[in-house]
Amino acid sequence: GHAMPEQAPAQPALRIAPADLPLLPADALPTGQPLLPLHRIGERDGAVLRLALTAAPHTVQLLPSVKTEFWSYNGSTPGPLIEAMEGDTLEIRFRNDLPQATTVHWHGLPVPADQDGGPHHPVAPGEERLYRLELPKGSAGTYWYHPHPHGDTPEQVFRGLAGALIVRTADDPLAALPEQHLFISDLRLAADGSIPFNNVDDWMDGREGQFVLVNGQLQPQLTVNGAQRWRIWNACSARYLRLKLAGAQWQLVGTDGGLLEQARPLGELVLAPAERIEVVVSGSGAVRLLALPYDRQKMGDAPPERERVLARATFSAGPRVQLPARLRSIADPGLARATKRVVFSETMSMENGQHSMAFLINGKAYDMNRADWHSKAGEVELWEVINDSHMDHPFHLHGTQFMVVERKRGGKVVREPFKAWRDTVNLRPNERLLLKLRFPHPGMYMAHCHIIEHEAQGMMAQVQVS
Ligand code: C2O
Ligand code: CU
Ligand code: CU
Repeated sequence: GHAMPEQAPAQPALRIAPADLPLLPADALPTGQPLLPLHRIGERDGAVLRLALTAAPHTVQLLPSVKTEFWSYNGSTPGPLIEAMEGDTLEIRFRNDLPQATTVHWHGLPVPADQDGGPHHPVAPGEERLYRLELPKGSAGTYWYHPHPHGDTPEQVFRGLAGALIVRTADDPLAALPEQHLFISDLRLAADGSIPFNNVDDWMDGREGQFVLVNGQLQPQLTVNGAQRWRIWNACSARYLRLKLAGAQWQLVGTDGGLLEQARPLGELVLAPAERIEVVVSGSGAVRLLALPYDRQKMGDAPPERERVLARATFSAGPRVQLPARLRSIADPGLARATKRVVFSETMSMENGQHSMAFLINGKAYDMNRADWHSKAGEVELWEVINDSHMDHPFHLHGTQFMVVERKRGGKVVREPFKAWRDTVNLRPNERLLLKLRFPHPGMYMAHCHIIEHEAQGMMAQVQVS
């Protein structure tokens, strides 16, 4: 049944926007402009890539009569693209010019806990810090960065703070293909151009805006000559993207943590919040990248999803491209020496005619001062992740990448059909996954639901790696 947890979770009080706030109509922003490439930053000095990143308010004139204050990295929404090679060291001089404490979390990178930008390492307003990230061999993949302070992560993300990070390898079998980057984010704008705070439904289901943007643009136009490699990020706070490429072909070649062993023909694909993919696209003619309706069992009374066009493209057929039969080898990490269990649940109660929800892991809300699990660096582990709730939740783990080895749904066990490295994976209600992983570094690492409003209300726990 639905009951309040014995002990009310010690989570920060929730700020709520007025219910009658008028919004800008969903077709108010211009569409059809050429896709802007993500702006790349960094100065190379041998194997060190140095860059400066500042988080600060930044005002943009979106329409003649509408100004919006975003919170941005280096004045751009999304933030600049950080692109490095395996073996590089990133030295990032970060400055916080926001009115509240923040961190920069390097989502997916296997870095030491004190460089990971988790809630234990806040940067106060007006302060600077250096992040030093060594990118090991085998880390080539598609990552991103975003704030992760205790309490204010939802606000900092919905005001625009997020950016892309790519790690490349010298022996990339797809290096000859031209590449485009589609960083998908969500934006809600009030009629006056301000970015409104979350409402009650957002705190239950996660926040979605009336605009779904690609590289900060509404329905941009792409040009594709011959085959291209696309990297796609779901950087939305809570929106699931059931993606379909209408009018062209695509193949899945990579996930969060880099390439698959072989390309796989792709129809539709559900990209959960925080997941990334690499695909190879080809075709000719007019093409649309669509987000189809996806039912993730919402609790609030938001209207049902409709199909959306995320981007339009004009494809022209080039010379036939034969992808290599093998993209790389993914070694199984070996026999597991330890197991962990993660159970997502939510409880709901009525208070003064208002729904009140609690989002929990293993029956508890997040506590910064409690280690929920203990692991040993270098040891292979099996993590059993169970969704014992009424809605989908994307599971994310810091500090390492994992391999899904088995899925169980409705009593049926299905072995995962291919090997892939991920740091985020979706769980449907009543689904159970088995993950294999190994932490390279000691330290305290987060595990949480990546619907950011759920994470902020306590659906997060931490593992102490020694
Ligand atoms: Cu992308 Cu702990 O987060
Ligand atoms: Cu992360
Ligand atoms: Cu969740």
